[in-house]
Amino acid sequence: MVNDRIRLKSLLDKVTTPEAAADLIKDGMVVGMSGFTRAGDAKAVPIAMAAKAKEQPFNITLITGASLGHDIDRMLTEAGVLARRMPFQVDRTLRAAINRGDVMFIDQHLSETVEHLRSNQLGPIDYAVVEATAISEEGGIVPTTSIGNSASFAILAKKIIVEINLSQPANLEGLHDIYIPTKRPTRTPIPVVACESRVGLPYVPIDPEKIAAIVVTDKKDSFSTVEAPDEGTQAIAGHLIDFFKGEVDAGRLDLTLQPLQAGIGTIANSVLTGLVDGPFHDLRMYSEVLQDSTFDLLDSGKLVFASGSSITLSAACSERVFGQFEKYKDRLILRPQEISNHPEVIRRLGVIGINTALEVDIYGNINSTHVNGTHMMNGIGGSGDFARNAYLSIFVTKSLAKEGRISSVVPMVPHVDHTEHDVDVIVTENGLADLRQLAPRERAEQIIQHCAHPDYREALMDYFQRAAARGGHTPHILEEAFSWHTRQQVTGSMKA
Ligand code: COA
Repeated sequence: MVNDRIRLKSLLDKVTTPEAAADLIKDGMVVGMSGFTRAGDAKAVPIAMAAKAKEQPFNITLITGASLGHDIDRMLTEAGVLARRMPFQVDRTLRAAINRGDVMFIDQHLSETVEHLRSNQLGPIDYAVVEATAISEEGGIVPTTSIGNSASFAILAKKIIVEINLSQPANLEGLHDIYIPTKRPTRTPIPVVACESRVGLPYVPIDPEKIAAIVVTDKKDSFSTVEAPDEGTQAIAGHLIDFFKGEVDAGRLDLTLQPLQAGIGTIANSVLTGLVDGPFHDLRMYSEVLQDSTFDLLDSGKLVFASGSSITLSAACSERVFGQFEKYKDRLILRPQEISNHPEVIRRLGVIGINTALEVDIYGNINSTHVNGTHMMNGIGGSGDFARNAYLSIFVTKSLAKEGRISSVVPMVPHVDHTEHDVDVIVTENGLADLRQLAPRERAEQIIQHCAHPDYREALMDYFQRAAARGGHTPHILEEAFSWHTRQQVTGSMKA
């Protein structure tokens, strides 16, 4: 079985233990590791690294595609391995270490990390640690359920450690499309002109001499943690579907819509699931993470093709999809995250981007990352890649958090990830604010009226009207703008 997966036979003598491979990683190194939204992450080597660090402390700069599964970020944090971490994470223990200032976290647009590597702004990468389905006859690395940044890590690293994962279906081979942008100053356009475009190779081309170790594993990906749609997320989906119907009636979209992108998390996943019951057909996705909702839509016949950078599924959906992968394979492509999230391609295809906000302000500025403006939640991820370049940039959020003690619509966001200029539509369970072609004062009326929770609506309108009386294009009362956040810090609630 291992022999079928390592087809360049001269590499068979590189097979070793996770401990021996982890031993190659030394203090101060820069390590690029596979893994994007818990899918296709290296599993055995990082766990062996955490164990080793307990005996012989060392720390590294760790770069991944996005979030990792299997509590790997927690284990590496607890073992003190992480000095610097980028570009995204979702782990509670790591989050706390970042917020204590123990780990230096660089929160980056997901499309940009490899550009920074290529231009020597960070790195060089000492080791790439990547999970693979197989190594081809030529020594090409066939990724598993994600590509993320793995292709460029392997191409740019001095040395590579490969984890061949026997639990990943062999027929993942052929799913991937590895295209690496050409060098500047003579870079050519990325030839992706449709969600279905195949423009690269089905494996990562590397010099097999760079492979320093191969570890064989059989641990499955961590399953996704998205929760089932609830009343709030279903209401959000309902408002969005009505909005799309309105766009069709107005002749701005037809029933095939435009390629869809949906961010991570429960809300975005349930919004997509909601499209199963809509009148739309022949839908396409040009997204990053393909979640359960992608496969619900494929099964319903509403979705005809999905392009992403990873497949992250719940346990039940994973069994359904990977148990009969041939049924789906010709309707799917996985790409490097710099291509799935590339501004050039997103703008060309006219993607409809649906991402989740922590909070929004009355003018439509979005905070996706910083609780109370200071404490990192997860990171900006790919939301900025899409929001800035989408044909329609939509943000969704529930109007309340923490049992109503927090309003997700506030006078002014204390941290801005997406400015009002990159936000077309905001949706909460209460309604939808279509902000296109509106001036700030008009945007405020729409957001307060349609998106804010009734418990906070009057206070927001009072703030806006008093600010407007002072004047300005985007009126504010600066000495009061963050009073909702400071009140919540002092009393535990934003309510006056
Ligand atoms: N203030 C403080 N906390 C808030 C909040 C607010 N305004 N709004 C939500 N939260 C908290 C929730 O209470 C919850 O906390 P818990 O984990 O302690 O229960 C947590 O944030 C997650 O919120 P939830 O409502 O469950 O939504 P989610 O799982 O869909 O996540 C984001 C929402 C914004 C955190 C998440 O979508 C994210 O990280 N986005 C940024 C990255 C991104 O958009 N990526 C997309 C492309 S990769």
